[in-house]
Amino acid sequence: MRNCIIVAVLFLFSCALWAQSPSLIPTPKTMELSSGEFDFSSSTRINAQGEDAKKNVTFLNKYLKDTFGFTLKNGSGKNSIRLITDKSLPNEAYRIDITKDEITIRGNGAGLFYAVNTLQQLIPNTGTKIPCLKIADEPRFAYRGLMLDVGRYFFTVDYLKSFIDQMAHYKLNVFHWHLTEDGGWRIEIKKYPELTKKGAWRSSSQYTREGGLQDRVPHGGFYSQEDVKELVKYAAERHVEIIPEIEMPGHASAALSVYPELSCSGKPIALPLPWGIKNDIFCGGNDAVFSFLEDVLSEIIPLFPSEYIHIGGDEAPKKHWKECPKCQARIKAEGLKDEHELQSYFIQRIERFVNSKGKRIIGWDEILEGGLAPNATVMSWRGEEGGIAAANMHHDVIMTPNTYLYFDYYQSRDKQNEPINIGGFLPLDKVYSYEPYTPKITKEQQKFIKGVQGNIWMEYIHSGAMVEYMTYPRALALAEIGWSPADKKDYADFLKRIPARLASMDKAGIMFRIPEPFGWDKVKIENAQAVINLVAPVEGAEIYYTTDGSDPAAGGTRYTGTLRLPLKLEGLDIKCIVTLPSGRSSGVYHVQSGE
Ligand code: ACM
Ligand code: ZN
Repeated sequence: MRNCIIVAVLFLFSCALWAQSPSLIPTPKTMELSSGEFDFSSSTRINAQGEDAKKNVTFLNKYLKDTFGFTLKNGSGKNSIRLITDKSLPNEAYRIDITKDEITIRGNGAGLFYAVNTLQQLIPNTGTKIPCLKIADEPRFAYRGLMLDVGRYFFTVDYLKSFIDQMAHYKLNVFHWHLTEDGGWRIEIKKYPELTKKGAWRSSSQYTREGGLQDRVPHGGFYSQEDVKELVKYAAERHVEIIPEIEMPGHASAALSVYPELSCSGKPIALPLPWGIKNDIFCGGNDAVFSFLEDVLSEIIPLFPSEYIHIGGDEAPKKHWKECPKCQARIKAEGLKDEHELQSYFIQRIERFVNSKGKRIIGWDEILEGGLAPNATVMSWRGEEGGIAAANMHHDVIMTPNTYLYFDYYQSRDKQNEPINIGGFLPLDKVYSYEPYTPKITKEQQKFIKGVQGNIWMEYIHSGAMVEYMTYPRALALAEIGWSPADKKDYADFLKRIPARLASMDKAGIMFRIPEPFGWDKVKIENAQAVINLVAPVEGAEIYYTTDGSDPAAGGTRYTGTLRLPLKLEGLDIKCIVTLPSGRSSGVYHVQSGE
Protein backbone atom coordinates (compact mmCIF):
# COMPACT_ATOMS: atom_id res chain seq x y z
CA MET A 1 0.00 0.00 0.00
CA ARG A 2 2.80 2.38 0.93
CA ASN A 3 4.53 1.58 -2.34
CA CYS A 4 1.31 2.34 -4.17
CA ILE A 5 1.12 5.73 -2.50
CA ILE A 6 4.76 6.47 -3.38
CA VAL A 7 4.13 5.44 -7.01
CA ALA A 8 1.00 7.59 -7.10
CA VAL A 9 2.85 10.57 -5.63
CA LEU A 10 5.71 10.13 -8.09
CA PHE A 11 3.20 9.85 -10.92
CA LEU A 12 1.40 13.04 -9.88
CA PHE A 13 4.75 14.78 -9.44
CA SER A 14 5.88 13.79 -12.95
CA CYS A 15 2.51 14.93 -14.33
CA ALA A 16 3.03 18.28 -12.64
CA LEU A 17 6.47 18.51 -14.23
CA TRP A 18 5.08 17.51 -17.61
CA ALA A 19 2.32 20.10 -17.37
CA GLN A 20 4.84 22.88 -16.95
CA SER A 21 7.39 21.58 -19.48
CA PRO A 22 8.39 24.58 -21.56
CA SER A 23 7.76 24.81 -25.30
CA LEU A 24 11.31 25.21 -26.57
CA ILE A 25 12.17 24.96 -30.26
CA PRO A 26 14.72 23.66 -31.02
CA THR A 27 14.60 21.34 -28.04
CA PRO A 28 17.80 21.63 -25.98
CA LYS A 29 20.48 18.99 -25.63
CA THR A 30 19.68 18.48 -21.96
CA MET A 31 16.99 20.00 -19.75
CA GLU A 32 16.28 18.93 -16.17
CA LEU A 33 13.11 20.29 -14.63
CA SER A 34 12.82 20.61 -10.86
CA SER A 35 10.07 21.72 -8.54
CA GLY A 36 9.26 25.36 -7.99
CA GLU A 37 8.97 28.40 -10.22
CA PHE A 38 10.62 31.72 -10.85
CA ASP A 39 8.13 34.57 -10.85
CA PHE A 40 8.90 36.68 -13.91
CA SER A 41 7.47 40.20 -14.14
CA SER A 42 8.34 43.82 -14.84
CA SER A 43 9.84 44.02 -11.36
CA THR A 44 12.38 41.28 -12.15
CA ARG A 45 15.88 42.79 -12.28
CA ILE A 46 18.74 41.96 -14.65
CA ASN A 47 22.51 42.33 -14.52
CA ALA A 48 25.22 41.56 -17.01
CA GLN A 49 28.97 41.24 -16.81
CA GLY A 50 30.97 42.17 -19.91
CA GLU A 51 30.15 44.00 -23.15
CA ASP A 52 28.80 40.92 -24.91
CA ALA A 53 26.45 40.11 -22.06
CA LYS A 54 25.23 43.74 -21.96
CA LYS A 55 24.42 43.59 -25.69
CA ASN A 56 22.22 40.58 -24.99
CA VAL A 57 20.37 42.47 -22.25
CA THR A 58 19.51 45.02 -24.95
CA PHE A 59 18.18 42.22 -27.19
CA LEU A 60 16.13 40.79 -24.33
CA ASN A 61 14.70 44.17 -23.40
CA LYS A 62 13.71 44.86 -26.99
CA TYR A 63 11.88 41.53 -27.10
CA LEU A 64 10.13 42.25 -23.79
CA LYS A 65 9.14 45.75 -24.88
CA ASP A 66 7.72 44.47 -28.20
CA THR A 67 5.95 41.50 -26.62
CA PHE A 68 4.86 42.58 -23.15
CA GLY A 69 5.36 46.36 -23.20
CA PHE A 70 8.03 46.58 -20.47
CA THR A 71 11.80 46.32 -20.05
CA LEU A 72 13.83 45.07 -17.09
CA LYS A 73 15.77 47.46 -14.88
CA ASN A 74 19.30 46.80 -13.81
CA GLY A 75 19.70 45.10 -10.44
CA SER A 76 20.66 41.93 -8.61
CA GLY A 77 19.53 39.79 -5.66
CA LYS A 78 16.23 37.97 -5.24
CA ASN A 79 14.13 37.70 -8.42
CA SER A 80 16.89 38.69 -10.81
CA ILE A 81 18.52 37.44 -14.01
CA ARG A 82 22.32 37.23 -14.30
CA LEU A 83 24.10 37.10 -17.67
CA ILE A 84 27.69 35.89 -17.52
CA THR A 85 30.19 35.62 -20.36
CA ASP A 86 31.85 32.23 -19.83
CA LYS A 87 34.87 31.82 -22.08
CA SER A 88 35.25 28.19 -21.01
CA LEU A 89 32.19 27.24 -23.07
CA PRO A 90 32.40 26.54 -26.83
CA ASN A 91 31.12 29.35 -29.06
CA GLU A 92 27.47 28.33 -29.48
CA ALA A 93 26.97 26.51 -26.18
CA TYR A 94 25.15 27.93 -23.16
CA ARG A 95 23.82 27.07 -19.73
CA ILE A 96 20.67 28.28 -18.00
CA ASP A 97 20.03 27.62 -14.32
CA ILE A 98 16.66 28.70 -12.94
CA THR A 99 15.90 28.63 -9.23
CA LYS A 100 12.99 30.27 -7.40
CA ASP A 101 15.17 33.28 -6.73
CA GLU A 102 17.47 33.68 -9.67
CA ILE A 103 18.06 32.92 -13.35
CA THR A 104 21.74 32.44 -14.20
CA ILE A 105 22.77 32.43 -17.84
CA ARG A 106 26.25 31.55 -19.03
CA GLY A 107 27.50 31.56 -22.59
CA ASN A 108 30.24 32.61 -24.91
CA GLY A 109 29.63 34.62 -28.10
CA ALA A 110 26.66 33.11 -29.93
CA GLY A 111 25.97 30.96 -26.87
CA LEU A 112 24.87 33.93 -24.78
CA PHE A 113 22.66 35.16 -27.61
CA TYR A 114 21.07 31.71 -27.92
CA ALA A 115 20.58 31.50 -24.16
CA VAL A 116 18.68 34.79 -24.18
CA ASN A 117 16.52 33.50 -27.04
CA THR A 118 15.81 30.33 -25.09
CA LEU A 119 14.86 32.51 -22.11
CA GLN A 120 12.42 34.41 -24.34
CA GLN A 121 10.74 31.09 -25.11
CA LEU A 122 10.71 30.14 -21.43
CA ILE A 123 8.66 33.22 -20.57
CA PRO A 124 5.04 32.12 -21.03
CA ASN A 125 2.90 34.02 -23.54
CA THR A 126 0.41 34.57 -20.76
CA GLY A 127 1.26 34.28 -17.08
CA THR A 128 4.45 34.86 -15.12
CA LYS A 129 5.77 31.49 -13.96
CA ILE A 130 8.97 30.00 -15.35
CA PRO A 131 9.71 26.46 -14.10
CA CYS A 132 12.90 25.86 -12.15
CA LEU A 133 15.28 23.98 -14.42
CA LYS A 134 18.78 23.48 -15.70
CA ILE A 135 19.59 23.58 -19.41
CA ALA A 136 22.94 22.66 -20.95
CA ASP A 137 22.69 23.20 -24.66
CA GLU A 138 24.79 23.19 -27.81
CA PRO A 139 24.13 22.46 -31.49
CA ARG A 140 24.34 19.16 -33.31
CA PHE A 141 25.42 20.75 -36.63
CA ALA A 142 27.55 23.83 -37.23
CA TYR A 143 25.63 24.88 -40.37
CA ARG A 144 21.91 25.59 -39.99
CA GLY A 145 20.71 27.60 -42.93
CA LEU A 146 17.88 29.13 -44.89
CA MET A 147 18.14 30.37 -48.47
CA LEU A 148 16.09 33.15 -50.03
CA ASP A 149 15.97 33.56 -53.80
CA VAL A 150 15.89 37.36 -54.02
CA GLY A 151 17.07 37.03 -57.64
CA ARG A 152 13.61 35.98 -58.78
CA TYR A 153 11.89 38.36 -56.42
CA PHE A 154 13.32 41.36 -54.62
CA PHE A 155 12.82 41.94 -50.89
CA THR A 156 13.89 45.09 -49.06
CA VAL A 157 16.75 45.18 -46.56
CA ASP A 158 14.21 45.87 -43.80
CA TYR A 159 12.30 42.73 -44.75
CA LEU A 160 15.50 40.69 -44.78
CA LYS A 161 16.33 42.01 -41.30
CA SER A 162 13.00 40.77 -39.98
CA PHE A 163 13.58 37.42 -41.71
CA ILE A 164 17.01 37.16 -40.07
CA ASP A 165 15.48 38.06 -36.68
CA GLN A 166 13.19 35.03 -36.89
CA MET A 167 15.96 32.74 -38.11
CA ALA A 168 18.27 33.76 -35.30
CA HIS A 169 15.56 33.29 -32.68
CA TYR A 170 15.35 29.64 -33.72
CA LYS A 171 19.15 29.25 -33.71
CA LEU A 172 19.48 29.12 -37.50
CA ASN A 173 22.85 30.64 -38.27
CA VAL A 174 23.40 30.86 -42.05
CA PHE A 175 21.50 33.09 -44.46
CA HIS A 176 22.24 31.98 -48.03
CA TRP A 177 21.53 34.99 -50.21
CA HIS A 178 20.77 33.92 -53.81
CA LEU A 179 21.62 37.27 -55.38
CA THR A 180 21.66 36.63 -59.11
CA GLU A 181 19.15 34.85 -61.35
CA ASP A 182 17.64 34.87 -64.81
CA GLY A 183 14.94 37.20 -63.51
CA GLY A 184 17.19 39.77 -61.84
CA TRP A 185 20.72 40.79 -60.80
CA ARG A 186 20.40 42.17 -57.28
CA ILE A 187 23.80 43.37 -56.09
CA GLU A 188 25.63 46.54 -57.03
CA ILE A 189 28.92 45.93 -58.84
CA LYS A 190 30.68 49.26 -59.17
CA LYS A 191 32.72 48.25 -62.22
CA TYR A 192 29.54 47.16 -64.05
CA PRO A 193 26.76 49.59 -63.05
CA GLU A 194 24.55 48.44 -65.92
CA LEU A 195 24.08 45.10 -64.16
CA THR A 196 21.73 46.73 -61.69
CA LYS A 197 20.68 49.72 -63.76
CA LYS A 198 19.14 47.37 -66.34
CA GLY A 199 19.51 43.80 -65.08
CA ALA A 200 17.61 44.36 -61.83
CA TRP A 201 14.36 45.42 -63.47
CA ARG A 202 11.70 43.67 -65.48
CA SER A 203 8.31 44.66 -66.84
CA SER A 204 6.29 41.88 -65.26
CA SER A 205 6.41 38.70 -63.19
CA GLN A 206 4.98 35.32 -63.94
CA TYR A 207 2.25 34.30 -61.55
CA THR A 208 0.22 31.55 -63.08
CA ARG A 209 0.96 27.88 -63.43
CA GLU A 210 0.15 28.11 -67.14
CA GLY A 211 2.99 30.58 -67.52
CA GLY A 212 1.43 32.47 -70.40
CA LEU A 213 -0.10 35.17 -68.27
CA GLN A 214 2.02 37.82 -66.62
CA ASP A 215 0.90 40.21 -63.92
CA ARG A 216 2.18 43.16 -65.98
CA VAL A 217 3.45 44.88 -62.84
CA PRO A 218 7.03 46.12 -63.25
CA HIS A 219 9.26 44.56 -60.64
CA GLY A 220 12.81 45.02 -59.51
CA GLY A 221 15.32 46.32 -57.05
CA PHE A 222 18.88 45.72 -55.94
CA TYR A 223 21.14 46.04 -52.93
CA SER A 224 23.81 48.73 -52.94
CA GLN A 225 27.14 47.71 -51.44
CA GLU A 226 26.23 49.90 -48.46
CA ASP A 227 22.98 47.93 -48.06
CA VAL A 228 25.00 44.73 -48.11
CA LYS A 229 27.40 45.95 -45.43
CA GLU A 230 24.45 47.01 -43.28
CA LEU A 231 22.72 43.63 -43.58
CA VAL A 232 25.93 41.66 -43.02
CA LYS A 233 26.56 43.65 -39.82
CA TYR A 234 22.96 43.26 -38.65
CA ALA A 235 23.10 39.51 -39.24
CA ALA A 236 26.50 39.16 -37.54
CA GLU A 237 25.17 40.87 -34.40
CA ARG A 238 22.57 38.09 -34.35
CA HIS A 239 25.21 35.43 -35.07
CA VAL A 240 23.93 34.78 -38.58
CA GLU A 241 26.54 34.39 -41.31
CA ILE A 242 25.55 35.55 -44.79
CA ILE A 243 26.79 33.50 -47.74
CA PRO A 244 26.32 35.28 -51.08
CA GLU A 245 25.54 33.33 -54.22
CA ILE A 246 26.61 34.53 -57.66
CA GLU A 247 25.17 32.01 -60.12
CA MET A 248 27.37 30.60 -62.90
CA PRO A 249 27.46 29.36 -65.58
CA GLY A 250 23.64 29.03 -65.74
CA HIS A 251 20.73 31.12 -64.44
CA ALA A 252 22.65 34.10 -65.79
CA SER A 253 20.12 35.66 -68.15
CA ALA A 254 19.91 38.95 -66.23
CA ALA A 255 23.67 39.47 -66.65
CA LEU A 256 23.57 38.27 -70.27
CA SER A 257 20.71 40.62 -71.08
CA VAL A 258 23.12 43.44 -70.21
CA TYR A 259 26.32 41.87 -71.60
CA PRO A 260 25.24 39.49 -74.41
CA GLU A 261 28.88 39.20 -75.53
CA LEU A 262 29.43 36.91 -72.52
CA SER A 263 27.07 34.26 -73.94
CA CYS A 264 28.10 31.74 -76.61
CA SER A 265 26.12 33.34 -79.45
CA GLY A 266 26.72 36.94 -78.42
CA LYS A 267 23.20 37.72 -79.66
CA PRO A 268 21.04 40.13 -77.65
CA ILE A 269 18.66 38.46 -75.20
CA ALA A 270 15.86 40.04 -73.21
CA LEU A 271 15.69 39.62 -69.46
CA PRO A 272 13.30 36.66 -69.44
CA LEU A 273 9.88 37.06 -67.85
CA PRO A 274 8.90 33.42 -67.37
CA TRP A 275 11.17 31.50 -65.02
CA GLY A 276 12.74 28.23 -66.12
CA ILE A 277 16.02 26.62 -67.12
CA LYS A 278 17.51 28.80 -69.84
CA ASN A 279 19.84 27.69 -72.62
CA ASP A 280 21.62 31.04 -72.59
CA ILE A 281 24.49 30.63 -70.13
CA PHE A 282 27.96 32.14 -69.70
CA CYS A 283 30.31 30.92 -72.47
CA GLY A 284 32.90 28.49 -71.15
CA GLY A 285 35.38 29.24 -73.92
CA ASN A 286 35.62 33.01 -73.64
CA ASP A 287 38.28 34.47 -71.34
CA ALA A 288 36.26 37.68 -71.11
CA VAL A 289 33.67 35.68 -69.09
CA PHE A 290 36.30 34.78 -66.50
CA SER A 291 37.60 38.36 -66.38
CA PHE A 292 34.04 39.57 -65.81
CA LEU A 293 33.31 37.01 -63.09
CA GLU A 294 36.64 37.67 -61.38
CA ASP A 295 35.87 41.40 -61.37
CA VAL A 296 32.45 40.67 -59.86
CA LEU A 297 33.89 38.31 -57.25
CA SER A 298 36.62 40.82 -56.41
CA GLU A 299 33.90 43.24 -55.33
CA ILE A 300 31.77 40.57 -53.63
CA ILE A 301 34.49 38.94 -51.54
CA PRO A 302 35.42 41.95 -49.36
CA LEU A 303 31.74 42.60 -48.54
CA PHE A 304 31.19 39.24 -46.85
CA PRO A 305 33.23 38.01 -43.88
CA SER A 306 31.99 34.45 -44.56
CA GLU A 307 34.59 31.86 -45.46
CA TYR A 308 32.29 30.80 -48.33
CA ILE A 309 31.19 32.14 -51.68
CA HIS A 310 28.40 30.16 -53.37
CA ILE A 311 28.97 29.96 -57.11
CA GLY A 312 25.76 28.17 -58.11
CA GLY A 313 26.60 25.57 -60.77
CA ASP A 314 23.10 24.09 -61.10
CA GLU A 315 20.87 23.70 -64.12
CA ALA A 316 23.30 24.83 -66.83
CA PRO A 317 22.16 23.22 -70.13
CA LYS A 318 25.05 22.41 -72.44
CA LYS A 319 23.14 22.99 -75.70
CA HIS A 320 24.96 26.21 -76.63
CA TRP A 321 28.35 24.95 -75.44
CA LYS A 322 27.98 22.02 -77.86
CA GLU A 323 27.48 24.43 -80.77
CA CYS A 324 29.95 27.13 -79.73
CA PRO A 325 33.36 27.27 -81.51
CA LYS A 326 34.93 28.97 -78.46
CA CYS A 327 33.66 26.32 -76.05
CA GLN A 328 34.72 23.52 -78.40
CA ALA A 329 38.17 25.09 -78.82
CA ARG A 330 38.54 25.21 -75.03
CA ILE A 331 37.52 21.54 -74.73
CA LYS A 332 40.19 20.63 -77.30
CA ALA A 333 42.91 22.87 -75.89
CA GLU A 334 42.40 21.65 -72.33
CA GLY A 335 42.04 17.97 -73.35
CA LEU A 336 38.52 17.78 -71.88
CA LYS A 337 36.22 14.88 -72.69
CA ASP A 338 32.96 16.76 -73.10
CA GLU A 339 30.82 19.74 -72.02
CA HIS A 340 30.47 18.33 -68.47
CA GLU A 341 34.23 18.45 -68.15
CA LEU A 342 34.08 22.01 -69.51
CA GLN A 343 31.68 22.89 -66.67
CA SER A 344 34.15 21.30 -64.26
CA TYR A 345 36.97 23.37 -65.87
CA PHE A 346 34.79 26.49 -65.43
CA ILE A 347 34.09 25.85 -61.75
CA GLN A 348 37.67 24.81 -60.96
CA ARG A 349 39.00 27.97 -62.61
CA ILE A 350 36.64 30.09 -60.52
CA GLU A 351 37.53 28.04 -57.44
CA ARG A 352 41.24 28.78 -57.93
CA PHE A 353 40.42 32.47 -58.06
CA VAL A 354 38.18 32.34 -54.97
CA ASN A 355 40.78 30.27 -53.08
CA SER A 356 43.47 32.81 -54.05
CA LYS A 357 41.41 35.41 -52.17
CA GLY A 358 41.32 33.24 -49.07
CA LYS A 359 37.75 31.94 -49.51
CA ARG A 360 36.17 28.59 -50.36
CA ILE A 361 33.41 27.79 -52.82
CA ILE A 362 30.09 26.06 -52.29
CA GLY A 363 28.17 24.82 -55.31
CA TRP A 364 24.94 22.96 -56.04
CA ASP A 365 25.45 19.25 -56.57
CA GLU A 366 25.81 19.57 -60.37
CA ILE A 367 29.39 20.67 -59.67
CA LEU A 368 30.13 16.96 -59.19
CA GLU A 369 29.50 16.37 -62.91
CA GLY A 370 32.69 16.24 -64.95
CA GLY A 371 34.88 16.25 -61.82
CA LEU A 372 34.56 18.06 -58.50
CA ALA A 373 36.67 21.15 -57.80
CA PRO A 374 39.34 20.16 -55.24
CA ASN A 375 38.23 22.24 -52.23
CA ALA A 376 34.53 22.65 -52.97
CA THR A 377 31.68 22.15 -50.53
CA VAL A 378 28.67 20.49 -52.14
CA MET A 379 25.10 21.57 -51.50
CA SER A 380 23.03 18.46 -52.15
CA TRP A 381 19.63 19.49 -53.54
CA ARG A 382 18.56 16.76 -55.99
CA GLY A 383 17.88 14.46 -53.08
CA GLU A 384 20.84 13.26 -51.04
CA GLU A 385 22.81 11.49 -53.78
CA GLY A 386 25.15 14.40 -54.51
CA GLY A 387 25.87 14.79 -50.80
CA ILE A 388 26.58 11.08 -50.43
CA ALA A 389 28.96 11.13 -53.44
CA ALA A 390 30.75 14.22 -52.10
CA ALA A 391 31.11 12.79 -48.57
CA ASN A 392 32.55 9.61 -50.14
CA MET A 393 35.12 11.86 -51.81
CA HIS A 394 35.84 13.52 -48.43
CA HIS A 395 34.29 16.85 -49.38
CA ASP A 396 32.16 18.91 -47.04
CA VAL A 397 28.43 18.72 -47.64
CA ILE A 398 25.38 20.81 -46.81
CA MET A 399 22.24 18.70 -47.06
CA THR A 400 19.33 20.56 -48.62
CA PRO A 401 17.44 17.77 -50.42
CA ASN A 402 14.36 18.93 -52.32
CA THR A 403 12.61 15.81 -51.01
CA TYR A 404 12.70 17.17 -47.43
CA LEU A 405 13.86 20.79 -47.34
CA TYR A 406 12.39 22.70 -50.30
CA PHE A 407 10.05 25.10 -48.59
CA ASP A 408 8.60 26.30 -51.91
CA TYR A 409 6.71 22.98 -52.14
CA TYR A 410 3.05 22.60 -51.14
CA GLN A 411 2.19 22.02 -47.49
CA SER A 412 -1.08 20.23 -48.14
CA ARG A 413 -2.39 17.69 -50.62
CA ASP A 414 -5.45 19.92 -50.97
CA LYS A 415 -3.70 22.19 -53.50
CA GLN A 416 -6.89 23.99 -54.50
CA ASN A 417 -7.04 25.50 -51.04
CA GLU A 418 -3.37 26.55 -50.95
CA PRO A 419 -1.74 29.56 -52.57
CA ILE A 420 -0.37 28.57 -55.97
CA ASN A 421 3.11 27.09 -55.70
CA ILE A 422 5.77 25.34 -57.71
CA GLY A 423 4.44 21.86 -56.91
CA GLY A 424 5.57 18.98 -54.75
CA PHE A 425 4.15 18.04 -51.36
CA LEU A 426 6.23 18.60 -48.27
CA PRO A 427 4.20 18.63 -45.06
CA LEU A 428 5.64 19.49 -41.66
CA ASP A 429 5.97 15.87 -40.47
CA LYS A 430 8.03 14.95 -43.53
CA VAL A 431 10.41 17.86 -42.96
CA TYR A 432 10.72 16.88 -39.30
CA SER A 433 11.54 13.28 -40.21
CA TYR A 434 14.70 14.28 -42.08
CA GLU A 435 17.94 12.76 -40.77
CA PRO A 436 21.08 14.27 -42.34
CA TYR A 437 23.27 11.28 -41.45
CA THR A 438 21.89 9.07 -44.17
CA PRO A 439 22.59 5.34 -43.64
CA LYS A 440 24.20 5.46 -47.10
CA ILE A 441 27.39 6.98 -45.68
CA THR A 442 29.74 5.44 -43.14
CA LYS A 443 30.17 6.70 -39.59
CA GLU A 444 33.60 8.09 -40.54
CA GLN A 445 32.06 10.09 -43.37
CA GLN A 446 29.44 11.71 -41.16
CA LYS A 447 31.93 14.41 -40.24
CA PHE A 448 31.70 15.76 -43.80
CA ILE A 449 28.00 16.56 -43.34
CA LYS A 450 28.31 20.08 -41.97
CA GLY A 451 24.63 20.75 -41.70
CA VAL A 452 21.29 21.45 -43.31
CA GLN A 453 19.44 24.19 -45.12
CA GLY A 454 15.89 24.95 -46.19
CA ASN A 455 15.46 26.67 -49.57
CA ILE A 456 12.78 29.18 -50.46
CA TRP A 457 12.66 29.75 -54.24
CA MET A 458 10.51 32.62 -55.46
CA GLU A 459 8.95 31.45 -58.72
CA TYR A 460 5.52 31.83 -57.11
CA ILE A 461 6.40 33.73 -53.95
CA HIS A 462 5.93 37.44 -54.46
CA SER A 463 5.49 38.95 -51.00
CA GLY A 464 7.00 38.83 -47.53
CA ALA A 465 3.77 37.33 -46.21
CA MET A 466 4.11 34.45 -48.68
CA VAL A 467 7.75 33.91 -47.70
CA GLU A 468 6.58 33.52 -44.10
CA TYR A 469 3.68 31.28 -45.10
CA MET A 470 6.05 28.92 -46.88
CA THR A 471 8.86 29.10 -44.32
CA TYR A 472 7.00 28.61 -41.06
CA PRO A 473 6.30 26.33 -39.33
CA ARG A 474 8.52 24.13 -41.56
CA ALA A 475 11.67 26.06 -40.60
CA LEU A 476 10.92 25.17 -36.95
CA ALA A 477 11.35 21.53 -37.94
CA LEU A 478 14.57 22.47 -39.74
CA ALA A 479 15.81 24.26 -36.63
CA GLU A 480 15.31 21.11 -34.60
CA ILE A 481 17.02 18.90 -37.24
CA GLY A 482 19.99 21.23 -37.24
CA TRP A 483 20.32 21.89 -33.52
CA SER A 484 18.83 19.12 -31.38
CA PRO A 485 20.46 15.74 -30.69
CA ALA A 486 19.07 13.00 -32.95
CA ASP A 487 17.86 10.99 -29.95
CA LYS A 488 15.84 13.97 -28.67
CA LYS A 489 13.77 14.25 -31.84
CA ASP A 490 10.15 13.28 -31.23
CA TYR A 491 7.43 14.55 -33.56
CA ALA A 492 4.57 14.11 -31.06
CA ASP A 493 6.52 16.16 -28.52
CA PHE A 494 7.40 18.75 -31.20
CA LEU A 495 3.68 19.20 -31.90
CA LYS A 496 3.10 19.91 -28.19
CA ARG A 497 5.71 22.68 -28.34
CA ILE A 498 4.53 24.31 -31.56
CA PRO A 499 1.38 26.09 -30.30
CA ALA A 500 3.25 28.41 -27.92
CA ARG A 501 5.85 29.25 -30.54
CA LEU A 502 3.27 30.01 -33.22
CA ALA A 503 1.34 32.17 -30.75
CA SER A 504 4.52 34.25 -30.26
CA MET A 505 4.90 34.55 -34.01
CA ASP A 506 1.26 35.56 -34.35
CA LYS A 507 1.83 38.30 -31.80
CA ALA A 508 4.89 39.46 -33.75
CA GLY A 509 2.84 39.61 -36.98
CA ILE A 510 4.60 36.72 -38.75
CA MET A 511 2.26 35.29 -41.39
CA PHE A 512 3.13 31.59 -40.94
CA ARG A 513 0.89 28.90 -42.42
CA ILE A 514 -1.61 28.02 -39.72
CA PRO A 515 -1.44 24.23 -39.41
CA GLU A 516 -4.49 22.01 -39.56
CA PRO A 517 -5.85 21.34 -36.06
CA PHE A 518 -3.88 18.46 -34.57
CA GLY A 519 -5.98 15.29 -34.64
CA TRP A 520 -7.87 16.40 -37.77
CA ASP A 521 -6.70 13.31 -39.65
CA LYS A 522 -7.77 10.84 -36.96
CA VAL A 523 -11.51 10.25 -37.12
CA LYS A 524 -12.50 7.24 -35.01
CA ILE A 525 -15.68 5.26 -35.36
CA GLU A 526 -17.24 4.33 -31.99
CA ASN A 527 -20.80 3.09 -31.41
CA ALA A 528 -21.84 4.12 -34.92
CA GLN A 529 -20.55 7.64 -34.33
CA ALA A 530 -17.63 9.52 -35.82
CA VAL A 531 -15.49 10.68 -32.91
CA ILE A 532 -13.09 13.57 -33.48
CA ASN A 533 -10.72 15.24 -31.04
CA LEU A 534 -9.11 18.43 -32.27
CA VAL A 535 -6.28 20.44 -30.73
CA ALA A 536 -5.66 24.04 -31.72
CA PRO A 537 -2.22 24.27 -33.36
CA VAL A 538 -1.66 27.77 -31.97
CA GLU A 539 -2.00 28.73 -28.30
CA GLY A 540 -5.15 30.81 -27.77
CA ALA A 541 -6.56 29.97 -31.21
CA GLU A 542 -10.14 28.83 -31.79
CA ILE A 543 -11.45 26.23 -34.18
CA TYR A 544 -14.75 26.71 -36.01
CA TYR A 545 -16.39 23.88 -37.89
CA THR A 546 -19.39 22.93 -39.98
CA THR A 547 -20.82 19.51 -40.75
CA ASP A 548 -23.13 20.44 -43.63
CA GLY A 549 -20.55 21.33 -46.25
CA SER A 550 -20.90 25.08 -45.73
CA ASP A 551 -17.95 27.43 -45.27
CA PRO A 552 -16.97 27.63 -41.57
CA ALA A 553 -15.58 31.14 -42.11
CA ALA A 554 -19.12 32.27 -42.76
CA GLY A 555 -20.55 30.98 -39.47
CA GLY A 556 -19.18 27.75 -38.08
CA THR A 557 -19.72 26.34 -34.61
CA ARG A 558 -16.88 26.90 -32.15
CA TYR A 559 -15.14 23.65 -31.25
CA THR A 560 -15.18 23.18 -27.47
CA GLY A 561 -14.54 19.46 -27.03
CA THR A 562 -14.78 16.01 -28.56
CA LEU A 563 -17.18 15.84 -31.50
CA ARG A 564 -19.46 12.82 -31.73
CA LEU A 565 -21.33 12.86 -34.99
CA PRO A 566 -23.87 10.37 -36.28
CA LEU A 567 -22.54 8.38 -39.22
CA LYS A 568 -24.30 9.22 -42.45
CA LEU A 569 -24.61 7.11 -45.55
CA GLU A 570 -23.17 9.89 -47.67
CA GLY A 571 -20.12 10.08 -45.37
CA LEU A 572 -18.60 12.87 -43.29
CA ASP A 573 -18.42 16.41 -44.57
CA ILE A 574 -16.61 18.32 -41.86
CA LYS A 575 -14.83 21.56 -42.58
CA CYS A 576 -12.97 23.72 -40.12
CA ILE A 577 -10.92 26.87 -39.83
CA VAL A 578 -8.48 27.99 -37.15
CA THR A 579 -8.72 31.60 -35.97
CA LEU A 580 -5.70 33.12 -34.23
CA PRO A 581 -5.64 35.59 -31.32
CA SER A 582 -4.61 38.27 -33.85
CA GLY A 583 -7.84 37.62 -35.76
CA ARG A 584 -6.13 35.98 -38.73
CA SER A 585 -7.82 32.79 -39.97
CA SER A 586 -6.53 29.72 -41.73
CA GLY A 587 -7.82 28.37 -44.99
CA VAL A 588 -10.65 25.84 -44.84
CA TYR A 589 -9.47 22.38 -43.85
CA HIS A 590 -11.49 19.27 -44.55
CA VAL A 591 -11.42 16.83 -41.68
CA GLN A 592 -10.18 13.54 -43.02
CA SER A 593 -11.81 10.18 -42.43
CA GLY A 594 -9.11 7.89 -41.13
CA GLU A 595 -8.33 4.91 -38.88
C1 ACM B 1 18.07 24.31 -57.48
O1 ACM B 1 16.99 24.10 -56.89
N1 ACM B 1 18.08 24.51 -58.79
C2 ACM B 1 19.33 24.38 -56.77
ZN1 ZN C 1 30.68 29.20 -75.66
